[in-house]
Amino acid sequence: MTKQKWVLGNWKMNGRLAANQALLSQLSQIQEHEHVAVGVAVPSVYISSALQAAAPTLVGAEDVSLYANDGAYTGEVSAAMLADVGAQFVLIGHSERRQYFAEDEAVLAQKYANAVAAGVLPVLCVGETLAEREAGQAEAVVAKQLNLLQAATLLKQTVLVAYEPVWAIGTGVVASIEQIAQMHAFIQQHVLSLLNNDASIRLLYGGSVNADNCAAIFAVEHVDGALVGGASLKYDSFAQIITAAT
Ligand code: G3P
Repeated sequence: MTKQKWVLGNWKMNGRLAANQALLSQLSQIQEHEHVAVGVAVPSVYISSALQAAAPTLVGAEDVSLYANDGAYTGEVSAAMLADVGAQFVLIGHSERRQYFAEDEAVLAQKYANAVAAGVLPVLCVGETLAEREAGQAEAVVAKQLNLLQAATLLKQTVLVAYEPVWAIGTGVVASIEQIAQMHAFIQQHVLSLLNNDASIRLLYGGSVNADNCAAIFAVEHVDGALVGGASLKYDSFAQIITAAT
């Protein structure tokens, strides 16, 4: 049974063992809610130690190799390795991967398929830049980013998509309720058109989510949670966001 709401943190390239364990230990004290999944995506080097401290908070990865099989890919971490250490989900296509590491749709489709094949739940990140939005291309850009879902075999799969307008990430400029409502309705309709009806779809919003704006965001139709960056690194703010989802 797929959880109704998902509150996931994305630590990005942040963390040190002692601080991680302190934060995760605090998060582990939060009463688990029947319908809300809470998790944190952490740098790969911290996945194993985080798993020891986090339960019931889920622990995921921030990326995965496009190469599925072991081999001469120095520095890469495969989906099978993520599964081997117990990672419970993995972010795919975060805008920072697309921007800084030139990850295009073909690369992301392979990464997504690798995660599905290894049994690590993928969270597909989509979102337009400010220039694309101002050019009236937001839906077209997001639709193109969603299309890789069609290729991956997703029978009876939970499909998690995070809509993160690039212009709202790390800027403190959260998308308006109207913008979130419009895009989440579009994504819901587009994902349904791509998948069989067996898939459970959960749409997260990400981009400057904080303790003050999260309740209004969670009240929007087709918003099933949040993907939280900066505010997930601080217990008090992340705990307030989790509480708002329950
Ligand atoms: O993946 C979540 C992240 O991109 C959002 O960052 O700091 O705007 O919550 P932030």
